Amino acid sequence: MSLAVRDLRVEIGGHPVVDGVSFDVPDGARVGLIGESGSGKSLTALAILGLLPEGARATGSVRWNDREILGLPDAQLATLRGDDIGIVFQEPRTALNPIRTVGRQIGESVRIHEGVSRREALRRAVVEAERVALPDPERLVSRYPHQLSGGQRQRVAIAMALACRPRLLIADEPTTALDVTIQAGILSLLRTLVEDAGMSLVFITHDLAVLAQVATHAVVLEHGRVVEDGAVDDLLRAPSSPVTQALLRDATATLWHPERSASRAPASEGTDAGTPAATADRTDGEEER
Ligand SMILES: Nc1ncnc2c1ncn2[C@@H]1O[C@H](COP(=O)(O)OP(=O)(O)OP(=O)(O)O)[C@@H](O)[C@H]1O
Ligand SMILES: [Mg+2]
Repeated sequence: MSLAVRDLRVEIGGHPVVDGVSFDVPDGARVGLIGESGSGKSLTALAILGLLPEGARATGSVRWNDREILGLPDAQLATLRGDDIGIVFQEPRTALNPIRTVGRQIGESVRIHEGVSRREALRRAVVEAERVALPDPERLVSRYPHQLSGGQRQRVAIAMALACRPRLLIADEPTTALDVTIQAGILSLLRTLVEDAGMSLVFITHDLAVLAQVATHAVVLEHGRVVEDGAVDDLLRAPSSPVTQALLRDATATLWHPERSASRAPASEGTDAGTPAATADRTDGEEER
């Protein structure tokens, strides 16, 4: 279950925006795609998933388990997304449908991909909501996205992506819109879910401190090109490209060692009710009940 991207190019209106990107995601690996705004991270992910915007054209090769998936017909790509590859987008507010209950949205992909009844899909939605540690899942599934906090909405987006048990998860800046404390809880959750399921992960961020919490390998992009890649520990210790050096300087949060972050992070959102951010997340959800 591996992903191999080779010489991936994306052109928009004749301009190269992804310019010969190659990287591998071996089975069970956690790879971070990092770079400044506009470096081509999202378009790389969208090209892999066959979700490029109108007017964009991709060439090169994307192999999933040795099968070429770049340029597959839409119907086959749609099956692949969900069954094999799950996606979490940056902004849960736009990823979620405002007029559908979260239970229906989490259950939707199960219904489509596994052909189960509405009732069974809702039952699965409760299970999935519980898996991403959403509070009171039985009640929560009948609520609408605006009735949840930002952190809770992002957990719903993760539950949607994982409901069909994909083998690879692609997460594009899944925590950027969130407060740092909530972010730590979500990152820790993502990492635990990915590790427990033995899934592979492609995690997109512009923050090296965030990347270090979830990924073991990093691919650094600049102007649509890979300028450096390697083990995260090596990049942190001795970044060779000026871009990576700048990202290291800009790292906003404390650079936790990946092995230590898992035990530190959950306390912030889950048990440490005293922190303002944790309180804000919960209050946000409860106020609108
Ligand atoms: N729909 C589009 N039409 C035209 N140009 C686009 C479109 N989407 C992206 N681009 C351009 O392609 C380049 C790469 O965009 P991309 O969204 O992949 O960057 P990114 O690394 O994800 O940035 P960010 O960190 O801001 O999300 C940018 O220069 C952007 O302006
Ligand atoms: Mg982006």
